[in-house]
Order: sequence, then C-alpha cells, then structure tokens
Amino acid sequence: MKIKHKQVHPLKFIKSPKALIYNGLLFVIILASLGCSSDGRMTTFESFGPVAEVQGLLFDVLIWVMAIVFVLVEFVLIYAAIKYRHKPGAPLPKQTHGNTALEITWTIIPTILVLGLGMWSLQVLWQIQEPPKGSEPLEIVATGHQWWFEFNYPDAANGKAITTANELKIPVNRPVSLILRSDDVIHSFWVPKLAGKQDMVPTRNNPLWFMAEEEGYYYGQCAEYCGTQHALMKMAVKAVSEEEYLAWVEGYGEKPYLSEEAQQGQQVFNGKGQCITCHTSSGPDSEALVQARVNGFLSGAAIAAGPNLTDLATRDKFAAGIYDRTSENLKDWITNPNELKSGNYMYKLAQIYKTEDGVANLTESEIEALVEYLQSLK
Ligand code: CUA
Repeated sequence: MKIKHKQVHPLKFIKSPKALIYNGLLFVIILASLGCSSDGRMTTFESFGPVAEVQGLLFDVLIWVMAIVFVLVEFVLIYAAIKYRHKPGAPLPKQTHGNTALEITWTIIPTILVLGLGMWSLQVLWQIQEPPKGSEPLEIVATGHQWWFEFNYPDAANGKAITTANELKIPVNRPVSLILRSDDVIHSFWVPKLAGKQDMVPTRNNPLWFMAEEEGYYYGQCAEYCGTQHALMKMAVKAVSEEEYLAWVEGYGEKPYLSEEAQQGQQVFNGKGQCITCHTSSGPDSEALVQARVNGFLSGAAIAAGPNLTDLATRDKFAAGIYDRTSENLKDWITNPNELKSGNYMYKLAQIYKTEDGVANLTESEIEALVEYLQSLK
C-alpha cells in the first residue's frame, strides 16, 4: 500500500496571523495583570534594606540576562524555521556536519554565564546568612500559628521581654535577627520589601535577618499554604525611630488606664468571656504558658495559643492584619468571628460561641465593654 504524504503548513492550526497576535497579547496581559496590585504593598521590586537590596539586584540581573538569551535564541530559532522550511518541490539542501568555531562559541558563552551567575548567587546566599559582624541585631522569635504570627522579644531593650502578635515593631536602621518557628503546620515568613521568604517549620529554628532603612510599614504574609485562612494570614513590620521603639517597650505591660466601662470589660475578659484562657493581656507569655496552651489544644481541650493582646491598642490592625482596629470592627469580631474569618480557632473553641446561631453568648453591653477594654490595652 502506498502512503500518501500531504504537505501541511506547520502553523495551520492558527486561523489567521491577526488571531495569533490578539490571543498572544491577551495571554500576556492576563499573566501580567496577575502580578499587579494598586498599592504595591507586597511588591518584590522595591527594596528597603540591605538584604532585600542584594536579593533584588541579583534578581534583576538574572531576569535581564535570561530575557536577552531567550529573545536571541528564539529569534534565531524562528528565523531559521521560517527561512529554511521545506518548500514543495525544493531539492534536498546541502548536508553539513560540524562547525568547530560555532560549537566552541555556544559552549563557552553559556558556561561563563551559568558559572558566573551561579557563583554570584552563592556569594549572595552566604552574604545574607547572618547580620554583619559587629552589628548588634535585635533578637526576635517569630512563631507561625494557624492563622496568625506571634512575636517574642527575649530582650526588647534593657532586658525586657515582650510578646506581641501580627505587627512586628522594630527600630529603623538596626538589624533584626529572627528565629522562625511553628507550633502547628509549616508556614512561611515573607516581607518582600525587606527580605525573601523563609519557611517556619515545626521542630526547627530557621534563621532570617533583615534591616529596615526607612520608617514605615512593610507588609507581609504567610507564603506557604497552611489551611483555611492561609490567604488571610497577614502581618506588618512597623519600623519606627529608636525613641518611638523604646517608648513602646517602656510602655508595654504597664498597667493601662481603664475607664469604668473598660473595667467591666476586663471582668468579662477574665470571667464570662473566658478570653483569658487563650489570650494574655497583661505582659509577655512565658514559654511554660505557651507550652501549656499548646499541650491543652493537642489533648483536645478548648484552649489554644491565641494572640497576646497586651499592646493591642498600639496596633493598627487585628485578626492577623486583615481588619482595621476600630471599635466597630472589634465588636463585629467578638460577636461572630466566623463571619469575619471563617475557620478560626477562637470561634471553634470558645464556649461563648456554642450557641444556636453561632453568635457570642454575651449581651450587647458586655461586648461593648469588652471592646472598650481591648481599646485601652496600650
Ligand atoms: Cu500560614 Cu499559610
């Protein structure tokens, strides 16, 4: 039997060149828009400290070198494919084999590029392992929880220990040395304007350091899928002047002024609300207390490590950086946290939410007093 060969144009599947261009453009626009955000809060293209700067420079050079290589190679490939494609009736082209000069060139250039960029990458990797020698980094232990961040300062200043959550206050222009941990699943600590990602892995202590060179907020987010509220596991690094930082440390844990309503709120916090089971509101959490809460949770008790609220009223947001700390939002949160952040452990565990409609078993005035108390914690 004779097989009949039919000449098929290699780009036949594209109906018209116009369609190809339009579809290609659409694809590029969709891809590009995925990386867009109106405020650039989490952009990786802006660096505000030594760690992010060397990482950013390495990234920029790598991407440009790769882009140029890609364009050159694709150009030659497409040019050759079009120019030398088989035409009906054309004779067999001249057969050649080997071209020493060409082969040496296309071996040497990529080798230099790969080795050069590889060695530079390694050098950057080593360079950002530890804060510069002689600097006095601020030590902080960051722990990932489902779905919020805990920050422990063993010595925030003058030997004072601090536990806080979701908003990491640091002095500007001082290296910060973090130990990253997790007490449940794997999370990832990521503040793109200050440093690249680092995983928070149970039973491990992963180091990460950075330094903010300008005052302001640097937004971050858990970058490792960790369950229901992974996408809303946010936080912020707030870099402030040395004086402002020291004032915050000084004030931390000092008895706050409580209005009459706030005092009633405190009673609800410690009593009917049972908030105190999981949240501390009067100073740092000791290792033992944290461990007791974790152990209680693992044994099935209605207890878990909850964000330390001692300095809540100095933070701009709450619920892992997703809501502004307004009294109205706090009220909604206490009334039914599941509506604002579904799956959270406060809602799952706390007795006051074991109601028919899931709304807190507290009176409106009790909730208002509780909000007043929380708003006094600074
Ligand atoms: Cu924690 Cu994702």
